[in-house]
Amino acid sequence: MLFTDEVYKNRQAKVATAWKDLLGSADLILVHSGESVQKPGGLDQTYDFLPHPSYFWLSGHRRAEGVMAYSLTEGWIEYQRPLSPVDIVWEGAEGNFVCEHSLEDLKKKISGGTYKRILHLGQITTGTATDEITRELAIRLDQVRRRKGPEEVRLIRQIAEMANAGYTALKKAIRPGVSERELQLHYENAVLMAGADKMPYGSIVGSGENAAILHAVPTAKKVTSGELILVDAGADVEDYCVDITRMFTVDEKFTSQQQEVYDLVHQAHKEAVKMCRPGTEWRDVHMKSARVIAEGLKQWGLWKSSVDAVLESGAISVFYPHGVGHLVGLKVRDTGNPENTNPKRYYGSRLRVDLALEKDYLITVEPGCYFARAFIEDQAIRENYKDHINWSEAEKWKTFGGVRIEDDILITDGDAESLTDCVPK
Ligand code: GLY
Ligand code: MN
Repeated sequence: MLFTDEVYKNRQAKVATAWKDLLGSADLILVHSGESVQKPGGLDQTYDFLPHPSYFWLSGHRRAEGVMAYSLTEGWIEYQRPLSPVDIVWEGAEGNFVCEHSLEDLKKKISGGTYKRILHLGQITTGTATDEITRELAIRLDQVRRRKGPEEVRLIRQIAEMANAGYTALKKAIRPGVSERELQLHYENAVLMAGADKMPYGSIVGSGENAAILHAVPTAKKVTSGELILVDAGADVEDYCVDITRMFTVDEKFTSQQQEVYDLVHQAHKEAVKMCRPGTEWRDVHMKSARVIAEGLKQWGLWKSSVDAVLESGAISVFYPHGVGHLVGLKVRDTGNPENTNPKRYYGSRLRVDLALEKDYLITVEPGCYFARAFIEDQAIRENYKDHINWSEAEKWKTFGGVRIEDDILITDGDAESLTDCVPK
């Protein structure tokens, strides 16, 4: 397990307190880790198993088909599928912690009739439960685990150092003619050698125009002088992770135009981080970052209408098409899903979370400014924003690419702390 027994006991106790007023003595809550998924075509293999983060966070265990059960009368009990000698021969026993209670025991308990209401959380195969009580339990569990404990913050700082090893290796490997894919390999090799288990998401490396592709998959394209290189890549230890974006060039420095856009995005990043305090609505952080980007684009003649009008109309989202960030930590999209199932748009961008910040939340701040050819050449988008965007100016930018700067920001009582500042900007 990543942390001490005491950490897990503490977490379980906090969740029990958060649920207390929702439950009666005939209720049983089951938090499922999920099932392994077989690869198709008789491969005799499964996809890598990722336990549901709620189960993993509560138990520290990563086994498929695990269940953390909670009732007011019995407290927390963990159930697992027994590990057979055949399992061990094929897969080894490592990481296969088995607790004293089996799934058979759980079946018996359920059929015993003591529990009249069984509520399922975590990874369930029957789809997401939509009943009010299950939703509320899921929200409250998320709210507890959203506040990062000191042991999690320490681990995430260590993971940031692993990512830094990757960024250092990638930077050294940059030269004209190196491909996006080679840069990815330099990065990932160094991250894994530094102790990470895996990447938390497909590493993004986009050069030239590809830097405007938000989730650019690294290609065989070679990087050349004059191009921007956007790298959005993290590191992961047992699903704890960092999510970082940095900009590079093969040249000694950015061109003056690239530097201006970089400085603008950096300004938006700094203003957004400054707002990251308990009580601040996340949408206000997004809207502030969008305003900074819109002011910059005005100086370069991209707008026909006022900054307020381009924000209100959503025209800004042609150049800044995503939200300013998302909760991060235990997986690259951390808690918040049940509370934000119908995310709203602000200034044209859909925010993944829409809540007020609180102490110990960890959230990415990742404003960007992109000149995506696919948007600039799209007739419907041009028509839609014809009163706001100076399209003949926008045309001149369509080979520029884009800039994003991303750090993982811990909310404290005072100024927010970046856990990813060890990677130079
Ligand atoms: N790092 C990719 C993303 O946040 O979408
Ligand atoms: Mn991100």
